[in-house]
Order: sequence, then structure tokens, then C-alpha cells
Amino acid sequence: MASELTIALIGAGGLVGQVIIDCLQNSVKIKNSNIMFRFFTRETKLNSSYIINDKNVIIERFELSVLLNNFNYVLLATENDTSKEIIDYSNQHNLKTRFIDSSSQYRLDNSMPLVIPEVNPYDLQLNSNIISSPNCTTTFLVMLLAALTPLSSISRVIVSTYQSASGAGIKGLEELKQQTKDWSNDQPLKKDFWGKPLLFNVFSHNSTLQQNLYNSEEMKIINETRKILHKGNELKIVPTCIRVPVLTSHCESINIEFVNNLSKDEILKKLTNFPGISVMDKENDFPEPSKCSGKSDIYVGRIRPDLDMNANTDVTHFRYWNFFVCGDQLVKGSGLNSVQILEKLI
Ligand SMILES: NC(=O)c1ccc[n+]([C@@H]2O[C@H](COP(=O)([O-])OP(=O)(O)OC[C@H]3O[C@@H](n4cnc5c(N)ncnc54)[C@H](OP(=O)(O)O)[C@@H]3O)[C@@H](O)[C@H]2O)c1
Repeated sequence: MASELTIALIGAGGLVGQVIIDCLQNSVKIKNSNIMFRFFTRETKLNSSYIINDKNVIIERFELSVLLNNFNYVLLATENDTSKEIIDYSNQHNLKTRFIDSSSQYRLDNSMPLVIPEVNPYDLQLNSNIISSPNCTTTFLVMLLAALTPLSSISRVIVSTYQSASGAGIKGLEELKQQTKDWSNDQPLKKDFWGKPLLFNVFSHNSTLQQNLYNSEEMKIINETRKILHKGNELKIVPTCIRVPVLTSHCESINIEFVNNLSKDEILKKLTNFPGISVMDKENDFPEPSKCSGKSDIYVGRIRPDLDMNANTDVTHFRYWNFFVCGDQLVKGSGLNSVQILEKLI
């Protein structure tokens, strides 16, 4: 058997960390390998235990010095500042560890890969000790674009998102649940995290507004999509990111302007054959969070030509198409994607 690999997960008690553990437990590649895992947290889920490859792994308290174990790989399910602190420490101690980072800290650094294994696995060949997993809404959009690009170049995308509370981590999720209880008990809603009601409300994404009037979530969609697809500003992207009172799974309404005219049959064939995409496009059976949460695939439906923009084309082939996508942003949007990157590396 090959010599033992050592892999650590930091942030194991958080929402993404917990999904990573689940994906590691279910990974066929990991089942057949000789790996020693260690899981770390700050507080949440400290001392919880999990079985992986018939071995018991207990979540330990994280301290920077544990990195001196020189792990082969570290999966980071932490916020930007924590990921940076950990990687800075590793660099200062000349450690040879490779990091797979869920945060956005290094995603746009051109010397480091930003990878969706179904789309740009070749970028893993970049010589870098940090590999980033993309923003969740970006991943869903890019998978759709990558599936359809063999049919035609894409010139413009208009995307509106419907993003769930758990996209903001455990605190955002818990506060939506608490607001639901507060409302049922006729109590004032707790608003420490969201600052306002998310229950029975819809609002612009809670990330920082930039000088150009787009928020940082919207800018992530633009910049990360172009980086993963190796495109510049010739790929026009117009995003609007919205938070909705859903527990888990993000939806996206996507309008694509292609260069060529396409038929629905061609589109369906490409989507059906693309790994990680399921088509859900029957009458009144379309993607929605209650059907997609906990699933590995992203779901695509409501596949319709844009009638006004296509007025002068023939009746089967159109240049403008609409899609509605839904996926579990904790699974393919983050934890599963990180584990798939790890599977490609080991
Ligand atoms: N949520 C999503 O849908 C999603 C999607 C894509 C990417 N991401 C990214 O994935 C990362 C994790 O997100 P999340 O949603 O899982 O957040 P989360 O639920 O808030 O979990 C973050 C975890 O990190 C732990 N942590 C913080 N500082 C730590 C430290 N110094 N040492 C060890 N553990 C530490 C926290 O532990 P304590 O609870 O004990 O403080 C917490 O459990 C973030 O960068 C996020 O932007 C999230």
C-alpha cells in the first residue's frame, strides 16, 4: 500500500466543515486510500467524533502549532482572515503543506488556481501550495456556462440570485431559525446577525457595496467566472445578488446571450451529459431548494428562449436562452467541491 498521507480539516465544526466530513466519509477514492485525518475547530463541535476508513477521528481544538505536523494537505473551511493567518504561519515555517481553501482570500490571485474539477481540472497543474474553491453562486453559473460553451461562445450573461441564509454561515442560519421561532411566539425578532428581518423578507446581498454600486458577492461572480473560464471582459456578466428566507440551497435565474443560434434539444443533450448537472425541466417540476438540498448535483430547469430578443430568428433555434438553476451551496457550492479537488490531488 502507498505510504500514509496526512490530511487536516480546519473549521470542522462549521457548516462547510461538516459537509466536508460527510463528503470525505462518502468518497470512494478516500475509502481505498491510506490517509490519516485530523479535524480541528475553535469551539463548535469540539470532541465530536466521526468514523472515516474505519478509524475514529475526534474534532480537536485548533492551535497554529498543530501545523508543524507538516500535513500533506489541509482543507480550510474558515473565514478569510483565519485562512490567511494559517497560511502565513505555514509559509513562515517553510512547511510543504498544500491548502484547499473555501474562503475568498486567494481566489483572484493569478498565481493560484481557482478550481471546479468538472470545469478546469488542468489548472491544478499550476505550481501553487494554495488551491481555492470558488464562491458558491459562481460555481453554479460556471458549470452551466461550461456545459453549453461547446455549442457556442457566450457573449453576455444576466444573473439574478436567490441566496439562502446558510450561505452566510452558521450564525446567519441560526438567526433565521430564531426569527421563525420569535415570530411564532409573538416576540420581537432577533436581528443581531442580519440587522433586520430575513423572515418574510428579501433583500440585497449583505456583502459590502463597492464604489461601482455592485456588492462584493456580485463582483465575485464576475471576476471568479472569468478567471475559471479563462475569459476577460469580453464575457459580459450582469449580476444581482439577493438574500431570501430559505435555510439551504441557492437559486439563480440566468439569461445567456450566445453567439450562435441553438435548439433546446442541443442544449438538453449538453446539460444531460455534463457531470454534476441534472436537468429538472418537466411541467411544474422545476429546481427548488426543497428538492435540491443535500444533493451533490446542481439542477437546471425552466429552459426557455427569450421571446422578444429572438423575434427575428427561426422557430427552433435561438440565440438568447433563460435557465433557472438550484443547488445546495454547502455541497457542490463548497464542501463537495473542496473534496473533489482533494481527490484529484491525492
Ligand atoms: N456557507 C456557505 O454556503 C459557503 C459557500 C461557499 C464558501 N463558503 C466559505 O467557507 C468558509 C466557511 O464557511 P461556513 O459557512 O462553514 O462558516 P461557519 O459556519 O461560520 O463556520 C466557520 C467555522 O470556522 C471556525 N473557526 C473560526 N476561526 C477558527 C480558528 N481560528 N480555528 C479553527 N476554527 C475556526 C468556526 O468555529 P467556531 O464556531 O468555534 O467559532 C466555525 O465553526 C468561509 O470562508 C465561507 O465564506 C461558505
